[in-house]
Amino acid sequence: MLGYSFMGKAHSNAYARMPVFFYPPPARPRLVAIAGRTEGKVKEAAVRFGFQRYYTDWNKLVADPEVEVVDNGLPNDMHLGPCVEAAERGKHILCEKPLGRNPGESQAMLRAAEKAGVKHMVAFNYRFVPAVRLAKQFIDEGYIGKVLQFRAAYLQDWAMDPDVPRTWRFRKESAGSGALGDLGAHIIDLSRFLVGEIGATVGIAKTFTGARPLPGDPTKKGEVDVDDAFVALVKFTGGAVGSLEASRFCAGRRNFQRIEIHGTEGSIGFNLERLNELEVYSNREQSDRRGFKTILVTEADHPFVGKWWPRGHIIGWEHAMVHEVYHFFDVIARDGRVAPWGATFYDGLRADEVIEAVQKSISSQRWEAPGLAS
Ligand SMILES: NC(=O)c1ccc[n+]([C@@H]2O[C@H](COP(=O)([O-])OP(=O)(O)OC[C@H]3O[C@@H](n4cnc5c(N)ncnc54)[C@H](O)[C@@H]3O)[C@@H](O)[C@H]2O)c1
Repeated sequence: MLGYSFMGKAHSNAYARMPVFFYPPPARPRLVAIAGRTEGKVKEAAVRFGFQRYYTDWNKLVADPEVEVVDNGLPNDMHLGPCVEAAERGKHILCEKPLGRNPGESQAMLRAAEKAGVKHMVAFNYRFVPAVRLAKQFIDEGYIGKVLQFRAAYLQDWAMDPDVPRTWRFRKESAGSGALGDLGAHIIDLSRFLVGEIGATVGIAKTFTGARPLPGDPTKKGEVDVDDAFVALVKFTGGAVGSLEASRFCAGRRNFQRIEIHGTEGSIGFNLERLNELEVYSNREQSDRRGFKTILVTEADHPFVGKWWPRGHIIGWEHAMVHEVYHFFDVIARDGRVAPWGATFYDGLRADEVIEAVQKSISSQRWEAPGLAS
């Protein structure tokens, strides 16, 4: 495990939970080593999460012969180096999103993983929310007919406080982009997962707070050179149209991810803050019975849910990561495929190409086509 903070903790929890609920597990994760920069903290994380040892240098973890799977939960500028090195050492890789700071980095990671023949997956965890999976089943079965429109908004508010320090998330050099690559990457991936490829996009973006206190010295400020919010229109190659937006400046919206999909025969709605529910509407219902219904996605035959609790006993945000880790270990153990349920490094590259196209369109003020990844 690379990184011990937010994602380090979330993924470590997933490895610990997976064999308890997905029993017998496809392979039992053995938590060999965790790496981070600060010795005291990484040592504590190793004890807390149950890793056998720790390193303060990621190179040593990736070189450890007992490590077979590398999970990269480091900031975005630390995805390329460790992922390529891990691939070259023949290790399977689960990497956090966005895969690269730009498509060039993602392409290099994809090539390295394909050359080495290792399994590769991007941690687009929202694909593994049962209600999102159920939405995909409805769409694939034609329940809402041909998809006409997709709209997604991923809204947070944590950056509104001007005293939030200029961490790696506020610098192009370390993050690649702001809300666009951070939150936007998730809904771009979900748009591809649920609807299909994006053929063209045009967007706008805004940075509301242009300078923030430096983490090491809060008396000084450093420039913020990434977006705080973006809005983009998209055209799907299959004919649907849509909008994507993300922001760190929506007061009161803590982790609000709303998706609406409208087809010729009905509609689907999903709200991450009520992740056990899926809203569906069908034109096929008798006219006096039409209306949105809310499915509580906790039945044993709903995706993944039978592994957890009796019906009605809801699950939470971290469960999607358990599903994600289960899928990856299952793929490794069976020599199966990460796609189409999981996001491969190819999917990570495609998401980065859409991000780049949005950025280009912001400068050009024209529609831009995401690069055609081969
Ligand atoms: N899938 C999701 O829902 C989700 C949510 C949050 C973050 N993320 C992604 O996860 C990644 C990490 O984000 P986070 O929120 O956990 O960040 P964080 O700032 O909370 O943690 C970053 C970790 O990286 C370590 N680190 C930084 N530089 C290092 C170096 N040179 N060597 C070793 N360790 C180093 C830090 O010590 C820390 O443990 C990012 O790519 C982010 O976009 C994904």
